[in-house]
Amino acid sequence: MTAPCLHEVVSRQAGRTPDATAIDGVGTLTYRELDRRANAVAQLLQARGIGRGSLVAVCLPRSGDLVVAMLGVLKAGAAYLPIDPALPPTRIAFLCADAAVSLALTSRRWSDRLPGDPLCLDGLSEKDDPPDPGTTPSAPACVMYTSGSTGRPLGSVIPHRAVLRLVRGNGFVPITATDRVAHASNICFDASTFEIWGALAAGACLVVFPDELVLDPRSFAAELRSRRISSLWLTSAYFDLIGATVPDAFATVDQLLVGGDTVHASTVRAVLAAGRPGRLLNAYGPTENTVFSAWYEVRDVPPHAVTVPIGFPVPGTEIQLLDDRLRPVGPDEVGELYLGGEGLALGYHRRPDATAARFVAVAGARLFRTGDLGRYRQDGALDHLGRRDRQVKLRGFRVEPAEVEAALTARPGVAQAVVVARREPARLDAWVVPERATGEGVVGQWRRLYDEVTYRGIDGGDPRFNITGWVSSYTGEPLPEAEMREQVEQTVARLRELRPRRVLEIGCGTGLLLLPLASETETYWGTDFSAVALAGLGPQVAGLPQVRLLNRRADDFSGIAGETFDLVVLNSVVQHFPSVHYLLRVLRKAVRVLRPGGAIFLGDLRSLPLLEEFHRSAGSRRGRQAVAEGVRQEPELVLDPDLFPALAQWFPEIGDARVQLRRGWADNELTHFRYDVVLRIGDQAGTGEPEWLDWPLDGEPADVLRGLVPPFGVRGVPNARLAGSGVHPEEFWRLAERLGLAAEIGWSADPHAFDAVFHHPGTPAPASPQRTSARRPADYATDPIFAEQARTLGPRLRRELAASLPDHLVPSVITVLPRLPLTSNGKVDLDALPEPALGAPTLQPARSVTERAVAEIWARVLGVPEVSVADNFFDIGGNSLKAAQVIEELRRTFDPRLPLVRLFDLPTVRAFSAALDDRGCTPGFSGERNRGRLRRARRRVGEPG
Ligand SMILES: C[S@@+](CC[C@H](N)C(=O)[O-])C[C@H]1O[C@@H](n2cnc3c(N)ncnc32)[C@H](O)[C@@H]1O
Repeated sequence: MTAPCLHEVVSRQAGRTPDATAIDGVGTLTYRELDRRANAVAQLLQARGIGRGSLVAVCLPRSGDLVVAMLGVLKAGAAYLPIDPALPPTRIAFLCADAAVSLALTSRRWSDRLPGDPLCLDGLSEKDDPPDPGTTPSAPACVMYTSGSTGRPLGSVIPHRAVLRLVRGNGFVPITATDRVAHASNICFDASTFEIWGALAAGACLVVFPDELVLDPRSFAAELRSRRISSLWLTSAYFDLIGATVPDAFATVDQLLVGGDTVHASTVRAVLAAGRPGRLLNAYGPTENTVFSAWYEVRDVPPHAVTVPIGFPVPGTEIQLLDDRLRPVGPDEVGELYLGGEGLALGYHRRPDATAARFVAVAGARLFRTGDLGRYRQDGALDHLGRRDRQVKLRGFRVEPAEVEAALTARPGVAQAVVVARREPARLDAWVVPERATGEGVVGQWRRLYDEVTYRGIDGGDPRFNITGWVSSYTGEPLPEAEMREQVEQTVARLRELRPRRVLEIGCGTGLLLLPLASETETYWGTDFSAVALAGLGPQVAGLPQVRLLNRRADDFSGIAGETFDLVVLNSVVQHFPSVHYLLRVLRKAVRVLRPGGAIFLGDLRSLPLLEEFHRSAGSRRGRQAVAEGVRQEPELVLDPDLFPALAQWFPEIGDARVQLRRGWADNELTHFRYDVVLRIGDQAGTGEPEWLDWPLDGEPADVLRGLVPPFGVRGVPNARLAGSGVHPEEFWRLAERLGLAAEIGWSADPHAFDAVFHHPGTPAPASPQRTSARRPADYATDPIFAEQARTLGPRLRRELAASLPDHLVPSVITVLPRLPLTSNGKVDLDALPEPALGAPTLQPARSVTERAVAEIWARVLGVPEVSVADNFFDIGGNSLKAAQVIEELRRTFDPRLPLVRLFDLPTVRAFSAALDDRGCTPGFSGERNRGRLRRARRRVGEPG
């Protein structure tokens, strides 16, 4: 008798036990029903010309209908390609196109997810045997896709004989007609091949588990008992989850197979202690050798073991451990696992290149090169020792980081991408470098923000002193009026010192500077890109013919003749420029419209050396990483004061650059972290270098300085505004006044200290040293264009990838970098990649007991230090497995009857907690332990205990 094909084995079984249950659970069927419905499918297919050599997509969820469709395809002589209907439609379309399927089978419920004209199997009748297509055991039975290292997934073509070698008399997992085999794995997983055909070839019952049960460890465990499951396969990740939650879940299972990734000894120990299954097997193997290649029965775990061996070859499989030159390695040596025998795939579907690279001839035998490393133990069992390439397993799925990298770089706006898989917690992290964008977008955003948000309340308040939009970065509240008055007065005083006659103010806003100064000038032009600001200011300048208001962007100097002004003012506007290059463009044009001897006043500039300190002070509670993240994603242009003395190398017209601290006694972000600069055009007649004294002085400052001849300076005075102790800069300005002198106070090399130069008020201060430097302009500034990309690109890419790739290929975190770190030989330096950016840099803390508890649980499950209530669970490392873990922990903390609230619909702590509160779960803290927990939690958020 010739060897049978897979469908023939099932049909014969149906002939032997027609009334036995073949499928139980979703879509219950007897063997007769299964066989006869599959006949109907085969006949429909044959009528459409499907037969030997055809490939048919089967897109249905786990169910009796799915198995009917698969069996029907085989009976028609074709092979099936299983497609999970939960995949994004673009991924489904890609798979169908890549595999060049002849037809797709589905049901009406899913038909709109499939391209072309799928065949819906609803309301199928039963039929007698279809015409025999003459399939042989070496013909393809199915194509199973896995992640591909070249960026494209690869479909392994599995012949009938390979599946039969897995499921018939395989000697290591005997399945008989009395068995009840769970079908709980994803249908795209090769393990489903074992579950489905293992059961049906033996006349056993295949028990189909719906997704809701699989995602919920406790319900899953309960179902194992109530459905009397005797054989079960699980990914090692899910085994870990159940082992941690319900370790006695498997006590009633006869054979439990665990695989897909490293099996952890700790979980095995817990399960063996709590309720050992009849047999517990570690089952190893790649799809290319049809599900299982090696197996190991775990009876106990030695005390120090961390993992479990993969054991011995399954019957019909040859395993060779070879070195790089395809020679067998010696005993105790590590080699790469090569697999051969009946289970081998025919190759990769429509990919001769990949087939030739991975299916190789060694001493006359055809072997599959796994990329897995292994070593024989003393007892002859094999240990798995990781991979020789970057391939990883996540939740049992094979993941080639290169495939995800290719998917990322194919998206618009991405120049480069690196993807790394981490094991604890298991997730994919990606780093991307965006393509360089122009500043247009950033300028447009600021303009919209001003017009539509900042200046919305512009009509209220005092029109002569309109401080709309001046808000605290810490609280978002308006800055106190008294502090604003002090700041405006100090700035106006500084501008008056420049004796302005003809002024161009760029970004004049509500006219805080223009209104007190314009009447003292011949000409005062104010420009601003906010039409709303200028519309509000217009009536205030109606009686001032010298004032002209122009609605335009800062870099628009059109219609302004050269040498028109003697002062250009840019106060508190530069921080909204998109880049240092935009600033330089504005300065170049400003220099042109200035007369010789004119000046540019740049006020309220934010200090780059103090940026980190600013973010720390802004109350970011997420520690160092979040401060670094805040700096990296800083949306404003923040400048190193050293830029200004260096400007002369690019603008020879600039004869002098003075940097000064902001004046004022108020303690706020303006006085602490900001400064002013005056650039003068043309040669400057300054006095010579002052005599410098170093801090601390030798006595009372007033006494020491009184004896000196100006100009003189004091260096390195600790700035009380920043250093906590030290001298307040205002004290030095006051001291200068008492001495009848003027003082210029700028930052020291250490930005927590200042340098003060004292000179006669009537004589110019000593010329500030001009510096040339090897630094490029960009080195002196933050990069708002990049920051905008860093903020928006990651979430956008995650959304786009989620719409086109299966869940396990979507990185949990996508960090945007200006460039990738490289090793000395030009490769990406994986070790130098920064920690992935998890969550928003500013922590939004929990406000209620529920939020607090939920946030703590998320943080624990995701392995992150803290979770902000606005963080999206799936943006900070969450996936469906972790969602199940979260629910499990919530049940322990809140209420054991907690329903499986859908984290997918409520992905933030805030939304999730609100749903819990709505369901009345907060008071559900039950038992003494939980009451104590509740009291502690309430105390932490300041609620009454
Ligand atoms: C914080 S206000 C300062 C207003 C005024 N200079 C002062 O000191 O009171 C900043 C102003 O600059 C304007 N602005 C910001 N970026 C600009 C740009 N790129 N071009 C033109 N105006 C801009 C805004 O509309 C806003 O009115």
